Amino acid sequence: MRKIVIAGNWKMYKTQVESLEFLQEFKPHLDETPDDREVVLCTPYTALAIMSKSMHNGRVQLGAQNVHWEESGAFTGEISGPMLTEIGVRYVIVGHSERRQFFGETDETVNRRLKAAQQYGLIPILCVGETKQQRDAGETESIIANQIKKDLVDVDQQKLVIAYEPIWAIGTGDTCETKEANRVIGLIRSQLSNANVSIQYGGSVKPDNIDEIMAQPEIDGVLVGGASLQAESFGRIVNYN
Ligand code: PGA
Repeated sequence: MRKIVIAGNWKMYKTQVESLEFLQEFKPHLDETPDDREVVLCTPYTALAIMSKSMHNGRVQLGAQNVHWEESGAFTGEISGPMLTEIGVRYVIVGHSERRQFFGETDETVNRRLKAAQQYGLIPILCVGETKQQRDAGETESIIANQIKKDLVDVDQQKLVIAYEPIWAIGTGDTCETKEANRVIGLIRSQLSNANVSIQYGGSVKPDNIDEIMAQPEIDGVLVGGASLQAESFGRIVNYN
């Protein structure tokens, strides 16, 4: 069975105080959330520990936004798997397009981070997606296939979530057609050895398009940026119809 995973990616937003305020407002929405939906919040590193302490009932899982491949070492600015699991983090986003675009992340480093995440007991959410230029040039299928192939070398597909995030749809309000997202996600699935990997869609997911997105048969959840920052809108998203 494929699990439904609804994850919020807070990027570089929210202090500890703001994170706790969000949680207070968000908690009541969870009363209506069906048990078979995994709800994940990927907060900045600085908010993880305090969020973890405030979520003792475990209805919301915590995620980080990156992880290094070594357990410890001279890697200024990085964070390791054991540092995250120690404070109760369960998931980690790996290979987000903003990391690839602005911080030099490559398929090779993404692959190393994925393997390390699994080694230290975290479930990675691997992000893949094409640029507008690549889409217009008819390269979407080959770009995605290539990312999946390179990123997943020696990665355990039993402990993995994938997010298809067309880069042109991120933060733009320009959501990918749901049928098209469904088609690309089907292609990704056809490349996997484990057909039960949960594959999310990400890119301008909002309260007003979530129902249509989740109605698609191949889509097992969403990775939500902007709309996960307000309790009201993320509450509507986790409680999609
Ligand atoms: P968005 O971001 O929902 O704001 O488009 C999605 C993401 O970057 O994961």
